[in-house]
Amino acid sequence: MTSASSGIRPDADWWRQAVVYQVYPRSFADANGDGLGDIRGVTSRVPYLRALGVDAIWLSPFYPSPLADGGYDVADYRDVDPRLGTLDDFDAMVSACHEAGIRVVVDVVPNHSSDQHAWFQEALAAGAGSAERARYIFRDGAGADGSLPPSDWVSNFGGSAWTRVPDGQWYLHLFAPEQPDFDWTNPEVRADFEQTIRFWSDRGVDGFRVDVAHGLAKDLTVPYRPSDQDHLPLNGTDPLYDRDAVHDIFATWRRVFDEYEPPRNAVAEAWVPAPRRVLYARKTELGQAFNFDLLEAPFDPSEFRTIIAQNLAMAEQSGASTTWVLSNHDVIRHATRYGLPEGTDTTAWLLSDGTVPPVDAARGLRRARAASMLQLALPGSSYHYQGEELGLHEAAAIPPADLQDPIWIRTGHQRKGRDGCRVPIPWTRSGPSFGFGSVAPHLPQPADFGRSSVEAEEQSPHSTLHLYRSALALRRELQRGEELHWLDADPQVVAFARHDGWRSYTNFGVNPVPLPPGRVALSSGPVVGNLLPGETTVWMVD
Ligand code: GLC
Repeated sequence: MTSASSGIRPDADWWRQAVVYQVYPRSFADANGDGLGDIRGVTSRVPYLRALGVDAIWLSPFYPSPLADGGYDVADYRDVDPRLGTLDDFDAMVSACHEAGIRVVVDVVPNHSSDQHAWFQEALAAGAGSAERARYIFRDGAGADGSLPPSDWVSNFGGSAWTRVPDGQWYLHLFAPEQPDFDWTNPEVRADFEQTIRFWSDRGVDGFRVDVAHGLAKDLTVPYRPSDQDHLPLNGTDPLYDRDAVHDIFATWRRVFDEYEPPRNAVAEAWVPAPRRVLYARKTELGQAFNFDLLEAPFDPSEFRTIIAQNLAMAEQSGASTTWVLSNHDVIRHATRYGLPEGTDTTAWLLSDGTVPPVDAARGLRRARAASMLQLALPGSSYHYQGEELGLHEAAAIPPADLQDPIWIRTGHQRKGRDGCRVPIPWTRSGPSFGFGSVAPHLPQPADFGRSSVEAEEQSPHSTLHLYRSALALRRELQRGEELHWLDADPQVVAFARHDGWRSYTNFGVNPVPLPPGRVALSSGPVVGNLLPGETTVWMVD
């Protein structure tokens, strides 16, 4: 089912160089005035997304969920959370996006469900050894009376990865206890996810973002991991992550994607070393994988050069296009990261409510604008997280009582978690939630948020919003081919041409350098005379 008046042409390769805008639905726009963003809120902002110039939106989970992990604990994979709307609202949103020429990507969360999912509730009721328990990973405990967890595996959110149920068995959860892991060796699990992919594809969804794609195949015969597990080289031998067996699952998904015309595409969230990433991106599997290398890198010219070269070389090998991302719902916003002294312990910084060390906000934003323009000049698809087009900073001072991320509780208040990038975005200068909705939002917004609102930035010609709009429009106009040619430049400058008519120069240093020949089509900061200022990107055309 695709909308009759669709403004998108069928194109099997639409994703290769797409600009994809990540919507975190609960924090994007609240149409029904309950403090939570919703699907009708997204629909109401389609004109904004169109004016921004994105090719697609990716929606983080909007499924029924008790919100133990911001919706990544899914209670029903084939419905909309009633607080966020209905399936009819979803269909209307897809139609509105398609009419506006915007494709829709949805998140699929296959590693674990919510503990409120009907299957997990059935598993609890059915008892040890039942077919219902076999959809998850239940084990007897260790020790004489089974009172010890079956292994030393730890959860990504802190604490043991095992939780005991009243009858004495334990179940595995790589994340929160409210997120039990599925057993992917069970054919029922595999069949159910194929049904989910078809369900959303039938509703016109163009692609999928696959959560924790590297976690599905586990080797449960290996009960213990070395204590330095976080530093293990992932190479197919770890018992939990990035096991070779996972690829068989995605090969099956590809067959489902290819039932559609045009075929659906997917992008893996797999935090694995660069050379392993391409395996997920193969044409016979998901099609693309997130490349988090720039997101993890400091603002440094040689790091950027190396990462770009390595990823383009890998993309050439795999036939997929690469992906670029600087911010998402799991990390500190890049305007803030770049404003902190290099090497800052960001866990401690968040615990200080973002005060120690202080952020150089102006510098962070200047660098973020330069880095985002560089990102948008690269071949491959470019993922952008809601609010980065406003130059938003991390909301680091959320009071402890308002924190929602399970990381805060699970680590005994040692890590604040990811709420600071999930604060509802500001649409207007003032109002009860800066135009997000009509009541107080589910996470508190900083008092000065109105200054970075869409309303304020629309009125300011040099705002980050205008920069993104201009960059996206120019990219659309200038982009052809998927090549990049390095250009000679000062060591502080990352310089490349996409083709003769489009060259990008980023000065990572603080001192200005001579402006290269040509006409400045766009710059991330003011260019005066014949100099390219520090921490600035320019796009040159002839
Ligand atoms: C992914 C999501 C993250 C979530 C986790 C567990 O990493 O991006 O937000 O907490 O998976 O589902």
